[in-house]
Amino acid sequence: MAPSERKVSLTGIKPTGEPHLGNLIGAIRPALALAEQYEAMYFIADYHALTALRDPNLLRHYSRSVAAAWIAAGLDPDRITMYRQSDIPETFELAWVLSCVTSKGLMNRAHAYKAARDKNAEAGKDELDAGVNMGLYNYPILMAADILVMDSDVVPVGKDQSQHVEYAADIAGSFNHLFGEHFKLKIPKLVVPEADAAKTLPGIDGRKMSKSYGNTIPLSVSESQLKSLVRRIPTDSTPVEEPKYPDSSTAFQILEQFAPVDVTTDTRKRLEAGGMGWGDLKSLLFEVLNDQLGPLRARYGALMEPGSELDELLTTGAEKARARARVVLTNVREAIGIQ
Ligand code: TRP
Repeated sequence: MAPSERKVSLTGIKPTGEPHLGNLIGAIRPALALAEQYEAMYFIADYHALTALRDPNLLRHYSRSVAAAWIAAGLDPDRITMYRQSDIPETFELAWVLSCVTSKGLMNRAHAYKAARDKNAEAGKDELDAGVNMGLYNYPILMAADILVMDSDVVPVGKDQSQHVEYAADIAGSFNHLFGEHFKLKIPKLVVPEADAAKTLPGIDGRKMSKSYGNTIPLSVSESQLKSLVRRIPTDSTPVEEPKYPDSSTAFQILEQFAPVDVTTDTRKRLEAGGMGWGDLKSLLFEVLNDQLGPLRARYGALMEPGSELDELLTTGAEKARARARVVLTNVREAIGIQ
């Protein structure tokens, strides 16, 4: 099939932190697999990050580092389109149009907004909207615009984002109902990638790996940083010769997600039999991670250099994506009676 006949999948990535192994397992690898079946588009949702990030240098840095990490992890820039959300002005124009066909009640029921209000209620605040900016409130509409402006067929997202994709479909439905006589917005389909059903990756303190817990292993760590992060993973005090329970070990749970099956099976046997210490397990884990991160780290480092091919790649991506967005927006404007 020619690329243009394939269905389009759209993935948005919010640049709010240094990409880490949890992202690799939970988002990047499943997305790589999906890219095989679709005409895959990826964008850096930099304006979405602005709802929470107020440091211009950090926003600039994360926007590049997230793009660099995804490419270094294996996205082939010749086969996919990657761009920055902020390079597509059509998105923001469409967001306004969509806000005019979206009921406020729908936004009141959005998970992220409701969670912010619940937190204020729990803290005993009178003003339940305290700390809620309009960017957070309108977040689902901007996300609907991202999706609809690219005429996306499918949107692969984790469970936490599925409501947003359902909203995008609802909002497209409202637009079509009101204006869709000559032009209809495509109703996007939600896809929850398989990895979501799998075990979550624990961080170096045993809780789910997440930047909010400060327990991540970033993709770009140096060999020595990787060694010391792996060393910090807690273990119990079972002596070397005693049998151990691999499933209760954070280091083993991480190993399981990165090592080949035969290595995992063999390690499990050795731990259960006794004679393999936690220190041995950590050395093995370091080797396995370092082997996988080595090439990724080199490519990431090159892309992060100022003036690297990354900037050109994002510019080319933006041109391609904009051409697509322009067609949708022209039709939308005509449908609603602007010009
Ligand atoms: N809200 C998504 C997240 O936090 C990022 C995102 C923004 C997105 N726009 C999108 C994802 C459009 C898919 C499609 O992860």
